[in-house]
Amino acid sequence: MRRILLSALMLLAFGGAAMAQGFPSRPLTIIVPFAAGGPSDVMARILAERMKVTLGEQILVENVTGAAGSVAVGRAARAPADGHTISFGHLGTHVANGAIYKLGYDLVTDLEPVALLPSNPMIIVSKNAVPAKSLQEFLTWLKAQPTPPTAGTAGAGSGSHIAGLYFENITGIKLQYVPYRGTGPAMNDLVSGQIDLIVDQTSNSIGQVRAGNIRAYAITDSKRVDSAPDIPTVDEAGLPGFHMTLWSGLWVPKGTPGGVVAKLNAAAVEALNDSAVRRQLENLGLQMPPKEKLSPEALGAWQKAEIAKWWPMIKAANVRVD
Ligand code: MLT
Repeated sequence: MRRILLSALMLLAFGGAAMAQGFPSRPLTIIVPFAAGGPSDVMARILAERMKVTLGEQILVENVTGAAGSVAVGRAARAPADGHTISFGHLGTHVANGAIYKLGYDLVTDLEPVALLPSNPMIIVSKNAVPAKSLQEFLTWLKAQPTPPTAGTAGAGSGSHIAGLYFENITGIKLQYVPYRGTGPAMNDLVSGQIDLIVDQTSNSIGQVRAGNIRAYAITDSKRVDSAPDIPTVDEAGLPGFHMTLWSGLWVPKGTPGGVVAKLNAAAVEALNDSAVRRQLENLGLQMPPKEKLSPEALGAWQKAEIAKWWPMIKAANVRVD
């Protein structure tokens, strides 16, 4: 019996090593859980362009939307554990959704962490028709509306939704959420004035702010974003302590051989260290993860710590699925 078990283990180990050696053997797919043109999509495409150089294979980016990203993550979790299907996600998809949806997969036991990706501070933005010139004036305007102002989100549990809930909590202002398949399409409606505001990822808003198509009031961090130094922090603008940055990451299905995970991690780290990639990401207001947090193990530990921090808060907020 012992001998059979030992042989089975050796087969698994050698099979995994052989798979890692020939990896990748065909084009890879990164499944992005939100609409094209939004912040997740843009970051995934920038990284995929550089990761394909290291891996020597094409990387396709597939947008699979619905249920705040849980449809996409479910698809990735059920894919063959060979490293060719990668799940891109963030605090919303790989933490918050577990507290909101009845998922057909487990965020920790059905996925293998690969690498932590840059963080996006949030930014409070409104349609241009709002007459406010500062965060304080915007809060006054929001409070004076006869019905709850409309806030665009990427669905219950998305980053923009969690940030909106946090904003309601800290200001006492009630919002009416308008769910989209991503904050890319939500941004189109903000620019055209169909919705009032988004508590958005900075990288999604910054181009429209620079173009003068929407108004920016504050960044939800303790320091200003280097690439948009004229936008004050919430601490400076009058909502001290309203800090939130949305980290992202890459995962593969559980059971993917360690050598394959290591190759994907190395490709992601190489992309993050590439000066042209860094420039592109930093120009969007994204913050690079610290070097000591770049291993698969560090992402796994971070994800578990974030689950322990956010699930009780989200469950207490009794978030409804729209
Ligand atoms: C997106 O790419 O649309 C976002 O990551 C959505 C969000 O979580 O707010």
